Amino acid sequence: MNWLDVIAEVDLADGAAELFRTKFGGEPDGVWIAPGRVNLIGEHIDYAGGLVLPFALPYATAVAVRRREDSTMRAVSTHTDESWTGELGEIGPGTPSGWAAYVAGVSWALREHGVGGVDVAVHSSVPVGSGLSSSAALECSFALALSELFDLQVDRKVLIQASIRAENEIAGASTGGMDQNIAMSAQAGHALLLDCLDGSTRQIPLDLEASGTELLVIDTNAPHRLVDGQYGARRQALDTAYAELGVTTLRGLDVEQAVSGLVDDTLVRRVRHVVSEIGRVEQAAALLDRGAAGTELGELMTASHRSLRDDYEVSSPELDSAVDAALRAGAHGARMTGGGFGGSAIALVPSDLVQAVASEIGSSATRYDLPVPTFLTAEPSGSAHRFF
Ligand code: GLA
Repeated sequence: MNWLDVIAEVDLADGAAELFRTKFGGEPDGVWIAPGRVNLIGEHIDYAGGLVLPFALPYATAVAVRRREDSTMRAVSTHTDESWTGELGEIGPGTPSGWAAYVAGVSWALREHGVGGVDVAVHSSVPVGSGLSSSAALECSFALALSELFDLQVDRKVLIQASIRAENEIAGASTGGMDQNIAMSAQAGHALLLDCLDGSTRQIPLDLEASGTELLVIDTNAPHRLVDGQYGARRQALDTAYAELGVTTLRGLDVEQAVSGLVDDTLVRRVRHVVSEIGRVEQAAALLDRGAAGTELGELMTASHRSLRDDYEVSSPELDSAVDAALRAGAHGARMTGGGFGGSAIALVPSDLVQAVASEIGSSATRYDLPVPTFLTAEPSGSAHRFF
């Protein structure tokens, strides 16, 4: 079974600084680190003004950055040979393309705050394309670096918005704001209840051990892509539903009310997912408030998966295989996490069954001729910060 090692922050920071010295010469001004995430529950509803419940992973991205006196930007990464050098003035939708859009886009989004040129070297332990928010980890570590190096005097809310704009407008992925919010606001040992309608947050203690459970993160190794049409199509379907219902949000409606005004079956199912998922997050938060991260939470997670699979249609054979196998082997519950269409699943597992569940998930992948999954450690971790 493949388990992905957690890389200590000091080693992540060293990796970024080492690349910096090799590619640019001299020392970076500092290294900043931001985490990837999983979402416990509340999927595909951040852009619908819903409630989400993510927490930060101990896998993270480090950026070594040095301020320049001109308006040139140079970006390199240990992950790929693809680097980018350009002028701040040339950054715009689609330019640069590829991974550099996530850093250049942040500089672009913060341009009116007085950001200048930088050299940046990236080193990360967040798997890329796995639905664990590698892009937000990159945006947020870099946004914090810019904020400190150029003394922007803005709070994290501004940096969160800049990171979201980088992703939406420069990288062209029309994602909601869950990932950037958790990367910037996570607290170790807690999940974050984020209300995407008014932006309010509440930290909820997440002590899985006390409930005798562990959260298994399963990277199916089936790459997911959010820059293609499916994610945007889900958002568009909801816009159509709002127009037909004459509302600006589905919050506060029950499922009956919400679907009664709709005719098209696809719209009915999309809306049913959103409204029922908001209800499940409320119930999950209430369970966590009572310190009950066991069977009932598991049932909500499994119901969330079914809704995402059948009504919202964002699952995939790899995710379904992992979820079904986890349940067969005794997990309290399991679901896809993140954007879907591949990527990662999570399973809430009684502590003594972790190996058995992981093994059944692996066997199921082999049986269906799917990629061999990788398992990750899910220790609720802290937010973006300066390492040195
Ligand atoms: C991706 C997006 C998030 C969110 C999830 C689905 O991770 O970046 O904004 O929409 O998908 O819940």
